[in-house]
Amino acid sequence: MNIIFNEQNRVFKLDTPNSSYMIKIADTDGFLLHMYYGRRLSDTCTDDLCRLEQHPFVPSKNERERASFMDCAPFEYPCHGLGDYRDDAFSVLNPDGHTATSFSYRFYKIYNGKPGITGMPATFGTEEECETLEITGEDAANGLEITCVYSVFKDTDAIARSVRIKNLGKYESIKLTKVLSSCTDFYGEDYDTIFLHGSWARERIIDRKPLGYGKHYVSSLRGESSHQEHPFIGLLAKNADEDNGEVYGFNFVYSGNFIAQAEKSQFDSVRVLMGINPVDFGWNLKAGEVFEAPEVISVYSAQGLGGMSRSFHDLYRKHLIRGKYKDRKRPILINNWEATYFDFNTEKLISIAKKASELGIEMLVMDDGWFGHRNDDSTSLGDWYVNEEKLPGGLKPLVDEVNKLGMKFGIWMEPEMISPDSDLFHTHPDWAIQIPGRDPVKSRAQLVLDLSRKEVVDYVYEKVSGILKSANIEYLKWDMNRQLTDLGSYGLSSEAQGELFHRYVLGVYALQERLINDFPNLLLENCSGGGARFDPGMLYYSPQIWTSDDQDPIERLKIQQGTALIYPLSTMGAHVCDCPNHTTGRTTPFELRGYVALAGTFGYELDVTRIPKEDQALIPKQIAMYHKYNELVRTGDYYRIASFTDNHEWDAWEVVSPDKSEALLTVVNVMARVNMKSRPVKLKGLDPQKKYTVTFINIKDNAEEETITLSGDALMYAGINPRIAGMGDYKGKMIYLKEY
Ligand code: DGJ
Repeated sequence: MNIIFNEQNRVFKLDTPNSSYMIKIADTDGFLLHMYYGRRLSDTCTDDLCRLEQHPFVPSKNERERASFMDCAPFEYPCHGLGDYRDDAFSVLNPDGHTATSFSYRFYKIYNGKPGITGMPATFGTEEECETLEITGEDAANGLEITCVYSVFKDTDAIARSVRIKNLGKYESIKLTKVLSSCTDFYGEDYDTIFLHGSWARERIIDRKPLGYGKHYVSSLRGESSHQEHPFIGLLAKNADEDNGEVYGFNFVYSGNFIAQAEKSQFDSVRVLMGINPVDFGWNLKAGEVFEAPEVISVYSAQGLGGMSRSFHDLYRKHLIRGKYKDRKRPILINNWEATYFDFNTEKLISIAKKASELGIEMLVMDDGWFGHRNDDSTSLGDWYVNEEKLPGGLKPLVDEVNKLGMKFGIWMEPEMISPDSDLFHTHPDWAIQIPGRDPVKSRAQLVLDLSRKEVVDYVYEKVSGILKSANIEYLKWDMNRQLTDLGSYGLSSEAQGELFHRYVLGVYALQERLINDFPNLLLENCSGGGARFDPGMLYYSPQIWTSDDQDPIERLKIQQGTALIYPLSTMGAHVCDCPNHTTGRTTPFELRGYVALAGTFGYELDVTRIPKEDQALIPKQIAMYHKYNELVRTGDYYRIASFTDNHEWDAWEVVSPDKSEALLTVVNVMARVNMKSRPVKLKGLDPQKKYTVTFINIKDNAEEETITLSGDALMYAGINPRIAGMGDYKGKMIYLKEY
């Protein structure tokens, strides 16, 4: 039993393998109070355990000081306007013009398994793998029923939370103005926060700082999770580091506007909130209807940030990613974007494919520019018919030719968009998101389709599925290159305009759900101008996401480290790029570009017919490494060893197989130093009792350097010399360990 209820004391205890979470129903008023979240407590839900007091006691019934109670009580789902002046999770605008809300306990339900969320992504698990608690309360003054849903996973230290609001009918319709998905109140610690911030080509850079008083948050109002901020917040004990100390991570399984906030109050308590951004949100809930908020995953780790990352990785690999490629090696692809940009035709693509297939690459992906009259990014989105000037005879002859070379074929589309210069826009100008009377803001010369409208979703689906059926297309890169502005829908009433942001995201999810059901063999890779929609919501539909348009291996050290803070390496789209790099202008060795891309899905993005012969010669060797190590990279436990983001000199990471019989260490010396201090690399996660053969891989000379045999304890506690000193800047090395 992972969820227990103590009837006498009205306390719930939820256990994962290494964490416990406790909730109390207050004796009066039916408040739902948070009691504890942290290391697993061995007591079952005993009467004594139920008396744990985590917060100052102020009687809720003392009418003179009721507000003091409200303002310090640790609420599980804090409501609005009744004395809790910290930020809340739930507010409305009722037909009488009032905004206050409340939660008063009614009943609970505990069951095996885990519910899904209608039309939205969510983690999943069988009745053996998960247990769920639903606690239902009522806001009688508004005629609303509120259900807080908690699912625990028996194999991972994660808890999934979501919320459902039902209109019980006191009002025919009531406007929900804020429905966050989770709140956790913490007491008695001094914390740091971690957020992931970024920009285009600089996504998810780790930002740790002390948590001071007041509200500290990241958010998106861009209609997607965004390059700039990430739907994640980490709360760390001051002494927590990579391997030790208490860390809590919260990640939102949603791909639209969000808020992730930590607030330190007057009493030093910390409230962590996460959910759909309430700005520009207003949902009209009619009598009998239910609004379901997306899911938040929380992870507790007593093994520092590394422990948190490994729990997220395990959870997402087992309980979020779906489909044929969930547990499979992905085909090694070559994408023509940085090779040709818009300037290509069948002949050019075939010449790339020919060379690529000789070298062992398995799939050609044709990127942007194959449709309408698109020779630059100013036109044709929405006109999903082949540009026969570039591809005579259409897609089929090209795809057949690529298949004849023994390669698969993949295609790029940007289904959510519409160019003002397109047949589609001329026929349906009202299908673009825009405000009547305002000239809509263009970004990359394009507008966004109004996916809150069913007819638009259906049209887009017909176009995407029609293209996929027209030839043997086995991979789709689904791009989204601009963020939302001019929030206005011709399909929604004036009352319902505040629903547009969320309905847009539901439209994207509906499209991708249909797609993966109808094309179960398709490998879908989501993308958004690089990695602006790299979030757990999209991972529910595609097992991999394009991480960033910056493919420079040095920049990627930071980007991939930040991304892997939460997401498994198997999900990170990573390619060997051209040089000088198209975003930074930096020149790096071909082998280093390979080492860094091998930490992701692996592929190439360059004109393979034009790169130097010595680089070409390395490709079969890199491919052999991919085939040899990908299983380990995809399924292994990930450990950060050194961070270039922090030390500005070098980087190292390691993956260890779950049975600890194998490991792969990658070390990158970014800046060479003369006479530098000794730098043994101490491995992590090995079995101290096992003996390992350690092979230094020398890809350049196609040789394995000397192999040594050492015990796990020597490798972890004494460490090894990675032998990169004096090799110069931008040099990498991979070291493979196998149980002896
Ligand atoms: C943005 C993507 O991130 C790139 O890889 C490429 O597909 C372009 N869009 C094409 O427009």
